[in-house]
Amino acid sequence: MKINVSLSRPIIIFFFTVFFVRTDFSQSSTKYQSADIEKKVADLLSKMTLDEKIGQLVQFSGDSGRAELVRKGKVGSFLNVRGANEVNMIQKVAVEESRLGIPLIMGNDVIHGYNTTFPIPLAEASSWNPELVTKAAKIAAWEASANGTHWTFAPMVDIALDPRWGRIAEGAGEDPYLGSVMAAAQVKGFQGDNFLNKNSIVACAKHFTAYGGAQGGRDYNSVDISERTLREIYLPPFQAAVESGAGTLMSAFNDLNGIPASANHFILTEILRNEWGFDGFVVSDWNSIAELINHGFAEDKKEAALKGITAGVDMDMAGDVEAGNVYLPNLKSLVESGELSEEIINKSAERILRIKYRSGLFDDPYVDSIYFAENIPSSEERNQTALQLSRESIVLLKNEGSLLPLKKELKSIAVIGPLADNQEDPLGPWSANPIVEDVVTALKGIQEKVSAGTIVAYAKGCTIDSSDTSDFNEAAEIARNSEVIIMVMGESRDMSGEAASRADINLPGVQLELIQKIYELGKPVVVVLMNGRPLTIEWIAENIPAVVESWFLGTQTGNAIADVLFGDFNPCGKLPVSFPRYVGQIPVNYNYKSTGRPYDDELKFTSRYIDYPNSPRYPFGFGLSYTEFKYSNLKLDKTKIKKNESVEASIEVMNAGSVSGKEVIQLYIKDLVASVTRPVKELKGFQKIELKPGETKTIEFVITPKMLSFLDVNLNETIEPGEFHVMIGGNSEELLKASFEIVE
Ligand code: GLC
Repeated sequence: MKINVSLSRPIIIFFFTVFFVRTDFSQSSTKYQSADIEKKVADLLSKMTLDEKIGQLVQFSGDSGRAELVRKGKVGSFLNVRGANEVNMIQKVAVEESRLGIPLIMGNDVIHGYNTTFPIPLAEASSWNPELVTKAAKIAAWEASANGTHWTFAPMVDIALDPRWGRIAEGAGEDPYLGSVMAAAQVKGFQGDNFLNKNSIVACAKHFTAYGGAQGGRDYNSVDISERTLREIYLPPFQAAVESGAGTLMSAFNDLNGIPASANHFILTEILRNEWGFDGFVVSDWNSIAELINHGFAEDKKEAALKGITAGVDMDMAGDVEAGNVYLPNLKSLVESGELSEEIINKSAERILRIKYRSGLFDDPYVDSIYFAENIPSSEERNQTALQLSRESIVLLKNEGSLLPLKKELKSIAVIGPLADNQEDPLGPWSANPIVEDVVTALKGIQEKVSAGTIVAYAKGCTIDSSDTSDFNEAAEIARNSEVIIMVMGESRDMSGEAASRADINLPGVQLELIQKIYELGKPVVVVLMNGRPLTIEWIAENIPAVVESWFLGTQTGNAIADVLFGDFNPCGKLPVSFPRYVGQIPVNYNYKSTGRPYDDELKFTSRYIDYPNSPRYPFGFGLSYTEFKYSNLKLDKTKIKKNESVEASIEVMNAGSVSGKEVIQLYIKDLVASVTRPVKELKGFQKIELKPGETKTIEFVITPKMLSFLDVNLNETIEPGEFHVMIGGNSEELLKASFEIVE
């Protein structure tokens, strides 16, 4: 998708550069292709035995005791091997002791940083700052490659509408467009402009596909959706990753419309290969091919191997070797018995070799520690990037009476909560190789931020999820003696991520009771949340004057939180996922269909609940600032266009407050009448700008035919005449609206 933009002068360079690179996915899908590599792949393949080709399709977790397998060319990759020396040792066996010297590709889960831990991806998406996300991914690639990782199992690009699903933490939330932008930004950061750089790592868009559609939000559960939903909601971020040149994809655990994703020819071959032209390779998820047996889709491992390889899964992540090892023991006999064509093996081996060549492994199989020591970005730069991304990931949900920002000169502050003085949980799920002792806690950040004369008292008050209230009184005591109370509450890091679905998404344990007890003291209370998913926080939202969503921010947690709480950084985060009021509302996403009886709180016979409103507690795209942005003068340069024409929208945005601030200006489109029902609105673009107090900028978007197209009843892309609404604002609910019409 290409969005050409002309803007008012002040930010033309920023916007044009950003959008041109980020949204023009089609251009880069061929940027890594090379005739020279194709020739090398073909030459090497022609020399390989069947055993050696099958060996390339095998990945084990951990290399201990497996040198002989490597020497015999029976394994092509490992995961969970870390450290330059460890990797160089096993790589030496592959390169110098096996017959053809084919290097191993070492994969690891570098999801949001390697040593320097960045905010979890759901938090990164809250920044709506793809350039910063790319910068963080680049730093992750530096640190990971310096430690022997060639390939990361990221970005996780699963769209998630259900906050009960723990893996919502790992992705970019509920919207296909924002998810596509974040997917491309991470691929660009990991792989760089040229795979061959020693500090680039191969990206892996996962989990292909629709894993986030698990019924009941229960991890690994079945997914049964229409092809329309598959193509409109779940596939776009994967396509963005592929068009950004991602070297690999990972097939998912879930069964999709009756066919497990790890043996689903429709998605793995018909869509991924035939429609999108993907020429990298697909790795299974951990044991997901062997699990075809549990799905009742394969009789045994032999049938599982046959179904996985023929559907298009090139590499078997035989993580738990006993349970998972499917390709190594079965593929040769399948070829010899004539049940499997060797051509299919050749194709998978070719794809894996292609990525190994593209990533420079044949030229440079060993970690060059001197190169990294001399070139890796300084820890100052790495931490500064982490701090800035953490700051921009924080979402201000409520600030009644402008309680925030707090004064640094307060006489006394009570810091309470199980996540306040905690270096582990703020790392969030899937931190790769964090340096835990480097994590700045919320307490430490606050202590270092306030004046020397400020007394900062701390009490844990309760644990994250026990029913023990015995420490309540100690917390109440320090609160009584303080001017302001900051409560840092939320989930533990293992309450989101994999195998961490929750049926109840309230604050766990007795944390709400503690907040209510402290609130009764009648002092100003700020609640800072640390969590990996939207939570249902009705009482807090109704009663607590200031509520800050910090997700899990990683290494720079405390510094970022303190910068926001005390005004050294004006919060600018916007929610990438809607917050339900009650778990019973789920899904509560913003881009819903109007139905034949659109919701009306006054009318019984409309699409609604009798006990609560339909609206979310906090909508997609929502986030407050310490200043106020006023939108005005939404204009379109045309009110009638033909199908292949564009419309230019302009709007004025003013900083009406007294402090500078960043704002994410969001563009939504609605197609009022079409041959299929269309969402009430869809995000089609955004820009993040900074305005000084009193400053006004005119922001322009070009609304292109691509943005107005949709899939018709036969799932063919089309544009139809009729009226469209253009809506622009600072979140998905508070929008200025204008209309135009496509005429025949
Ligand atoms: C896990 C996850 C996947 C991860 C892989 C390797 O089960 O589903 O996201 O990359 O195994 O750790």
